[in-house]
Amino acid sequence: MNQKRIFNSQSRRDFVKKSSLLAGGAIAAPLLSRANFFSGADDTIKIALIGCGGRGTGAAVQALSTKQNVQLVAMADAFKNRLDDSYKNIIEALEDKKGRVQVKEEHKFVGFDAYKKAIALADVVILTTPPGFRPIHFEEAVNQSKQIFMEKPVATDPAGIARVLAAAEKAKAKKLNVVVGLQRRYQSSYRELIKRVHDGMIGDIVSAQAWWNNDGVWVHPRQPGWTEMEYQMRNWYYFVWLCGDHITEQHIHNLDVINWALEAYPVKAQGMGGREVRKGKDYGQIFDHHFVEFHYGNGTILNSQCRHQKGTMSKVDEMLTGTKGKVFCDEARITDTKGNTIYQFDKSKENQPYQNEHDELFEAIAKGEYKFWDAERGAKSTMTSILGRMATYSGQTIEWDKAINSGLNIQPSTYDFSAAPPVLPDADGLYPVAVPGVTKYF
Ligand SMILES: NC(=O)c1ccc[n+]([C@@H]2O[C@H](COP(=O)([O-])OP(=O)(O)OC[C@H]3O[C@@H](n4cnc5c(N)ncnc54)[C@H](O)[C@@H]3O)[C@@H](O)[C@H]2O)c1
Repeated sequence: MNQKRIFNSQSRRDFVKKSSLLAGGAIAAPLLSRANFFSGADDTIKIALIGCGGRGTGAAVQALSTKQNVQLVAMADAFKNRLDDSYKNIIEALEDKKGRVQVKEEHKFVGFDAYKKAIALADVVILTTPPGFRPIHFEEAVNQSKQIFMEKPVATDPAGIARVLAAAEKAKAKKLNVVVGLQRRYQSSYRELIKRVHDGMIGDIVSAQAWWNNDGVWVHPRQPGWTEMEYQMRNWYYFVWLCGDHITEQHIHNLDVINWALEAYPVKAQGMGGREVRKGKDYGQIFDHHFVEFHYGNGTILNSQCRHQKGTMSKVDEMLTGTKGKVFCDEARITDTKGNTIYQFDKSKENQPYQNEHDELFEAIAKGEYKFWDAERGAKSTMTSILGRMATYSGQTIEWDKAINSGLNIQPSTYDFSAAPPVLPDADGLYPVAVPGVTKYF
């Protein structure tokens, strides 16, 4: 349908009526930031990119590749070189759609406060910094009444989760669409599998398994002239306040699939982990393996493993066992208890979930629909991964309620390149690493 027609054919009153029905009848707030958005005078949807790294660049290209009239108008990053590279890469990737990048020099913002200025210029914001900053950026975007795409994880500590949950409530009240980049939720095969689980095809789920085992990720060694804060920001993967450890940063995807299938979150967890091969000063403080037993309220146990060790078995997958069958997610297959296939998703029909997240979000926004409220479940799946980390770091059984209400806050008190980050190296350049049995929670 022609975009202009959509705007003309739906009055603001119609939209407000519709969105309040969708959201359970609460008092509806204006959906979009500009009063003329529904007038049909201008169908441009302006976006701002906050965190111009690998994923942010990809997400911006995907947003700009939707059917809607989307323009990138502002960018923000802690570092100018990252912003400049991203700007160049977005233009190159878009090829024939160059008019979609309209970022004036004065709308390229750098530094810790850059996000506020970029958010102010947009209708939709893409939040793709390291996850330690997500609660602050999400809160600001909600306060400024923006539509939001934010990457997972959405925090790195329980205090951050509490902030995101509070902002998620506000976003709901304001009818702001929020998509979280747990892209399996936007992937056709997963949607078909989980729909069948919810329809009872495998009966009651009794156990589950989840894996994120592979070689690990990049390292950015310290460069002369960097302050300690700059070093940690650039090598963010290896610092818990920024990354959450790899159980949070990557394994969240698999944990979220199990939460989705069970329509529940664990009540407690216990596990083990450590760093066996990834040692040394370039690797900060995170573990290289975690194995966690998550217990759900209905008695289901999820055995979860994640490992970053070169030369070991690679597997990124989930499996569910029910009273009537099993789901093998990577194979997109469901069997009965004897192993006979009772459902097979046709993988030639798989979609591109990263693109689909944006296709669905921008279609809803253009139509003036309130359709996505992923923030709460994104926060609770992030919390699942943090619960696992608390269990492996401490070596204790950790209860969900205690953990989420712990108020544990591992962020710096000041964001400044000359300020001290929350962890510092010793005289040999090594960082404190959790010791199970000694470390409390974190
Ligand atoms: N859904 C997925 O499959 C997927 C894949 C990759 C990454 N991600 C997520 O995307 C996020 C970013 O990951 P990435 O791989 O793009 O990392 P990256 O290092 O390539 O990019 C992060 C960018 O954020 C910038 N940044 C850091 N702190 C900032 C701040 N306070 N304000 C503004 N900018 C800041 C960095 O300078 C950098 O340019 C992470 O949360 C990651 O988990 C998700």
